[in-house]
Amino acid sequence: MVLLREKMEEIEHTFEKKDIKIGIIGAGYVGLVTSVGLAYKGFKVLAFEKNVEKLNLLKKGISPFYEPDLQKFLINSINSGRLSFIDEVSQLIKECKHIYICVGTPIKEDQTYDMFFLDSAAREIANHLPQNEQKIIIIKSTVPPGTAKWFKKIIYRYRRNKKTNIEVASIPEFLREGNAIYDFFNPNRIIIGVDNKSIVEDLTQIYHDFPAPIIIVSTTEAELIKLASNAFLATKISFINSISDICEQLDCDIENVRNGIGLDNRIGIDFLKPGIGFGGSCLPKDLNAIISIFKEKQIDPVLFEAVKKINNDRINLIMNKIKKALWNIKGKTITIWGISFKAGTDDIRESPVLKLIPILIKEGANLILYDPKATNNFKNQYPQYSINPSIKITENIYESVVNSNIVVITNDWEEYKRVNLQKIYELMETPIIIDGRNILNHLEISEYGFEYYRIGVNYESS
Ligand SMILES: NC(=O)c1ccc[n+]([C@@H]2O[C@H](COP(=O)([O-])OP(=O)(O)OC[C@H]3O[C@@H](n4cnc5c(N)ncnc54)[C@H](O)[C@@H]3O)[C@@H](O)[C@H]2O)c1
Repeated sequence: MVLLREKMEEIEHTFEKKDIKIGIIGAGYVGLVTSVGLAYKGFKVLAFEKNVEKLNLLKKGISPFYEPDLQKFLINSINSGRLSFIDEVSQLIKECKHIYICVGTPIKEDQTYDMFFLDSAAREIANHLPQNEQKIIIIKSTVPPGTAKWFKKIIYRYRRNKKTNIEVASIPEFLREGNAIYDFFNPNRIIIGVDNKSIVEDLTQIYHDFPAPIIIVSTTEAELIKLASNAFLATKISFINSISDICEQLDCDIENVRNGIGLDNRIGIDFLKPGIGFGGSCLPKDLNAIISIFKEKQIDPVLFEAVKKINNDRINLIMNKIKKALWNIKGKTITIWGISFKAGTDDIRESPVLKLIPILIKEGANLILYDPKATNNFKNQYPQYSINPSIKITENIYESVVNSNIVVITNDWEEYKRVNLQKIYELMETPIIIDGRNILNHLEISEYGFEYYRIGVNYESS
């Protein structure tokens, strides 16, 4: 969904002023969006990012990553004097009563969360606590249930003789990359997890004017709500991917079937889109985490294991489609449209295409990669591919199809829908498209003469 223009302008012109100073630790996707969002809401925000390269960019008003509208919001927030990026976390801990924790929680090899960044943040806070004050720590990172309690325990362990009163709340983040600014101002719900009701009023002061219901729960419930929400979204995707597989065998078109299912209000059409599997920094990680938590508590995670397996198998599905379309892959030129895990972001974390690339290279294909925003991230994070003679990374969608044998679409940027199909047809050696996101109009495509395959349709019988 594109940020609604009028809504955006309305937000842009309502820089409120409030008397609360808020600290943010960690200025990645969540921390930076929270920083500019709270600055727009009128709070004075001090943000600290420990990655010096990122911090230096932020101080100059440059977003280290692509997110629609974020750059403009960042500059405006800094220029208004309501957002500053600081060099020392101690300043933020001393000056702000409310401190948001937005550090990463990557997954370890054993499929449990790596709590190192949260543990470090707790120790840093403890080390710099002033005497005799109250601090309210708000955990925004996605964490295993019980984390807020641990966070408080670590601070109390390390604070030594300081008499500062600490409360830890859990207010999970539900923003979607690609829509993060819109989502900040228009959340569906605000979950406030507290273990001490005395801070509820304090926290609702921050959130009272958001257009969403505020739900007060315990910290552990808030942490579980976030994990369970992501597990449910992952389940919805694997569910429709499964239905899409059976569509291919039953001569049904998944697009008709998903509409028929999704129009039921109890089900809903969102996240009911077949594809090559979910990726990103959240769904795969949080699904793995929930599986580990179930196992730790000796409950069979059979549902979530199935969701994960279905997702992992999507790469085989797309490989089979490529093999069927090309017959022989070795020596063929394969264009891939899509490196980020979805449209609207340059985030390539856990993008399904990262699994596809090495398989295709091993099969002897030559690859041309294109993505409207994610090529730089890809080059920086996978420098080995930049020097691989079998891979070409291009910044131009038309250049990406020159003498190509097939285009494989792996994410859902609007640009693919607006492309000049006649030109694409002419530039390709063999005009074949595999649409891994069912994003193109199949009737229009066929008129141009492409061989076109999407997900959830049986082409052999047609
Ligand atoms: N990205 C999303 O769409 C999204 C949505 C909802 C929730 N989340 C959750 O929010 C958390 C953050 O995600 P993200 O995508 O913003 O991660 P990110 O990696 O983009 O950002 C985390 C930032 O924290 C910084 N950091 C780590 N330790 C620090 C410290 N002690 N002091 C200061 N900075 C520190 C890192 O350098 C990094 O820039 C994760 O738990 C994630 O699961 C992410």
